[in-house]
Amino acid sequence: MDQRTDTADPTTVDPPGHRPAVVTQVGRRAHPHGAVHVSLEDVTVRYGDFIAVRGVSFEVPRNEITALIGPSGCGKSTLLRALNRMNDLIPSAAVSGHIHYNGEDIYADAVDPVEVRRRIGMVFQKPNPFPKSIYDNVAFGPRLNGFDGDLDGLVEASLRRAALWDEVKDKLGNSGLSLSGGQQQRLCIARAIAVDPDVILMDEPCSALDPIATLRIEELMEDMKDDYTIVIVTHNMQQAARVSDLTAFFTVDVDDTTGMRTGELVEIDDTEKIFTDAGDERTEAYITGRFG
Ligand SMILES: Nc1ncnc2c1ncn2[C@@H]1O[C@H](COP(=O)(O)OP(=O)(O)O)[C@@H](O)[C@H]1O
Ligand SMILES: [Mg+2]
Repeated sequence: MDQRTDTADPTTVDPPGHRPAVVTQVGRRAHPHGAVHVSLEDVTVRYGDFIAVRGVSFEVPRNEITALIGPSGCGKSTLLRALNRMNDLIPSAAVSGHIHYNGEDIYADAVDPVEVRRRIGMVFQKPNPFPKSIYDNVAFGPRLNGFDGDLDGLVEASLRRAALWDEVKDKLGNSGLSLSGGQQQRLCIARAIAVDPDVILMDEPCSALDPIATLRIEELMEDMKDDYTIVIVTHNMQQAARVSDLTAFFTVDVDDTTGMRTGELVEIDDTEKIFTDAGDERTEAYITGRFG
């Protein structure tokens, strides 16, 4: 009898007796780095008539860290927000093109953006704990989703996963805002993790932190790769070089007639390649500090 279970997409069904050389799951095509978790195809994001970022296509492999770098205003945050439909919350924003998560179009009519944001979490530049206890910060999402399991256990597991448990286990009732900046950011990571995402988007998560707190977060990210796919925006070249597997470099194209400044993807490649032997001279100029 046929052993396949993934018959959801008939176009991927192989003829009887045929075994594919590389086994991939439906919607998770092979990538040199592994299975594709999120893919962007000709993605353009506008704010009203303004085109913030245009024609971006790339694939984010599962359980790896993909860094987005480039000069201020090239649309990194805009693009990151498009990946979990956070742009829906900005009335003037419009996304075109296709973004697939596990092979599913996240902008399809039937898709619930709240569910997208549960599966694809976001951590922001400035740590933003709620003015609530440490416990309630982590329990917030699960409670909102009607979680009726062992909440204490979930809070502990999330804080452990974010490498914060040992520092806060005796003061879970204290305000999240009483923590240091680095601890607050790890609390925000715990809060994101608590609703069980498998992709975490991070928008310059260390830019408000001191070097030691930054190192902690970088170590945590490395550790989180086992369970999560991470896309990080960073303006810190060393950080991109240290933590990421893939690096995407964006630039700003200025329209000669209108002066409109639109972000574009220049290239995406193995981080090591980008930093030692970039394919495009604009990338090299940027990472060597000659531009941007
Ligand atoms: N909510 C918004 N409304 C209108 N324009 C925006 C909005 N957010 C960002 N922009 C513009 O879009 C462009 C890209 O911004 P952003 O994505 O923040 O770039 P980056 O994160 O690379 O610095 C910039 O020109 C910025 O001014
Ligand atoms: Mg930004």
